[in-house]
Amino acid sequence: MATIVQTIARADSTFVGTLRQSPHVQAQEQQEEPYRYANLLPHFDPAEHFPPLTPFDHADPGLRALAHPNPRSFLSSATSVVELTPNLGTEVRGVNLAKLDSDGRDQLALEVARRGLLVFRDQEEFINRGPDFYLAWGRHFGRLHVHPTSGHPQGYPELHLVYKDAKSTYNFELDQSTTTTMWHSDVSYELQPPGLTTFFLLSQPTTGGDTLFTSQVSTLKKLSPPFVAFLRTLTAVHSGVEQAEFSRSGKRGGVVRREPVENVHPLVRRHPVTGEEALYVNRQFTRRIVGLKREESNNILNFLYDHIDKSGDNQARVKWSPNTVVLWDNRITAHSAIVDYGESGERRHGARITPQAERPIPAQDGLQLD
Ligand SMILES: [Fe+2]
Repeated sequence: MATIVQTIARADSTFVGTLRQSPHVQAQEQQEEPYRYANLLPHFDPAEHFPPLTPFDHADPGLRALAHPNPRSFLSSATSVVELTPNLGTEVRGVNLAKLDSDGRDQLALEVARRGLLVFRDQEEFINRGPDFYLAWGRHFGRLHVHPTSGHPQGYPELHLVYKDAKSTYNFELDQSTTTTMWHSDVSYELQPPGLTTFFLLSQPTTGGDTLFTSQVSTLKKLSPPFVAFLRTLTAVHSGVEQAEFSRSGKRGGVVRREPVENVHPLVRRHPVTGEEALYVNRQFTRRIVGLKREESNNILNFLYDHIDKSGDNQARVKWSPNTVVLWDNRITAHSAIVDYGESGERRHGARITPQAERPIPAQDGLQLD
């Protein structure tokens, strides 16, 4: 594993550029300097192997904030609170996340549950507090997920990293596709997929590498009541097998540290705090609808994926600036990376803190999941 980190370091030090205005040169100059976040570079240890995840009781911190007399008081110091779209996303300035106490974090969880996505600018203190703080932050919101295949900083398997530079990528990127857009809800194949998720970039390209989000509450609301009523009766298989095979083929560091799982989730889930219903299928991990014929399943899923893909009216796009921290509720949103910066060779390095939440609650009472 040290091998991988050493490989990155060598790649960073071997380029000599001459065109000083070229983005490629800028990228390499950026990478020739001692890297400020070298301790957070992706690490892959083939010997690292973990047992299957076990079920646990999730107590959502947003529930505590429901009883608060003013559950938005954590925003009282904000200099700017801007709704990105009517139904998804809020951008905040003037609130230092690193200073939020337990009550403030509960309120934050509720606000993210209500808005789906929160973007906090100027979070230098949060980012510079480092990996032990990231873990303590995430544990407030739930048991931290250990990703089975992605890179993590050495000694911190609970931190999920995205990483791409001029010489390497440790992301899940499909070849031979007309687009890098891949809508998904993170690791939805787990029995208890993530809830409130925190993500930030340590390095970013000069331009590009934005992140797309969509509200799965809104995508559901666009559908007709009789069709939604049918969807509520359905469950689907979510699978981690393809992601594991991607790594087993030698990509992304080539490590599978936990055997892949498949789990059955309702197509329409209910948020445990807000009670809102959200569509819960995604092109990356959902494989088939239980109990339907193959053609029925494929046609319904492809219709839903197409609906998610093209509904700009449900989506928001986050443009990164240094020291931005983004939080989303993985239960009611989907997102996609945009890999439009590859030719620049610039480094994009991000870290995700991923607390797991409850097993998805069916919108239809009593729906059989096993
Ligand atoms: Fe993701």
